[in-house]
Amino acid sequence: MDALNLMALETLAKRELSEMTWGYYYGGADDEVTLRRNRNAYQDIALRYRVLVDVSRRNLSTTVLGSELELPVLVAPTAFHKLAHLDGEVATARAATTAGTTMVLSTLSTTGVEEVVSAAERDIWFQLYVYRDRGATEALVQRVHAAGCKALVLTVDAPLLGRRERDIQTGFALPEGMGIENMLADGYARVDAAEGDSGLAAYFARLLDASLSWKDLDWLRSISPMPVLVKGIVRADDARRCQRGRRRNSDLAMALAGCPTIADISADLIASKLR
Ligand SMILES: Cc1cc2nc3c(=O)[nH]c(=O)nc-3n(C[C@H](O)[C@H](O)[C@H](O)COP(=O)(O)O)c2cc1C
Repeated sequence: MDALNLMALETLAKRELSEMTWGYYYGGADDEVTLRRNRNAYQDIALRYRVLVDVSRRNLSTTVLGSELELPVLVAPTAFHKLAHLDGEVATARAATTAGTTMVLSTLSTTGVEEVVSAAERDIWFQLYVYRDRGATEALVQRVHAAGCKALVLTVDAPLLGRRERDIQTGFALPEGMGIENMLADGYARVDAAEGDSGLAAYFARLLDASLSWKDLDWLRSISPMPVLVKGIVRADDARRCQRGRRRNSDLAMALAGCPTIADISADLIASKLR
């Protein structure tokens, strides 16, 4: 049976996945306090009703950075899809195509970017982690541009990772034969279990550039013609924008809020403030 909602999907996933994979997908850092707070924060947001507007026809489509979306929701970048299914990121790209939206492919993809772009019939954007080795980062950017990615999504909220205790407990590592396919050079392609630490956190600490700052955006723009979107919730406004759920939820919310098109949505619809 299809999952009725995301919570039900989570229950199904827990049943199907190994403890290691489940812990990685589900878990957060340390006592997972921020993870719980982030989830709860969505419940503090309410939308104002707006009635007596003709909402008999609604259009959820919009254009972002030149990519046409049939609904205002992107598939966020997440790492290591082959841990969940052998079709990995290719399956996600096909699903994004069916849903009418753009998938943001993670740097830490277990499928090469070329294969993912050719499996998708819609635009693919690429989520970038900047490595200390700027030469390797530049090579990655050139590769994803050559593959046909339409935009870069620069992650800025993970200069270092917290202590992922579930990963430490399960000894999280990529299984033999599975690697980070966009980073084939030695030392970049694997996430291995680390002594006393989460392997992923150790990977970030060893390889990623925690010194990244605004001036690096200019550098990124100078090495690639792709538009750059900065990823990481940096202001409450950004969080509010994220709250438009999936197609059905968005469609209903738009009808109840008296917004037949995306252009009708404005900040004054938000009835409550994030704490
Ligand atoms: C299992 C998992 C893997 C993730 N991998 C990445 C990643 O590789 N790159 C990235 O920028 N963000 C990654 N994220 C963060 C998500 O893109 C997203 O920003 C975050 O989950 C918050 O959105 P949510 O509230 O819808 O979960 C990951 C999140 C999860 C749960």
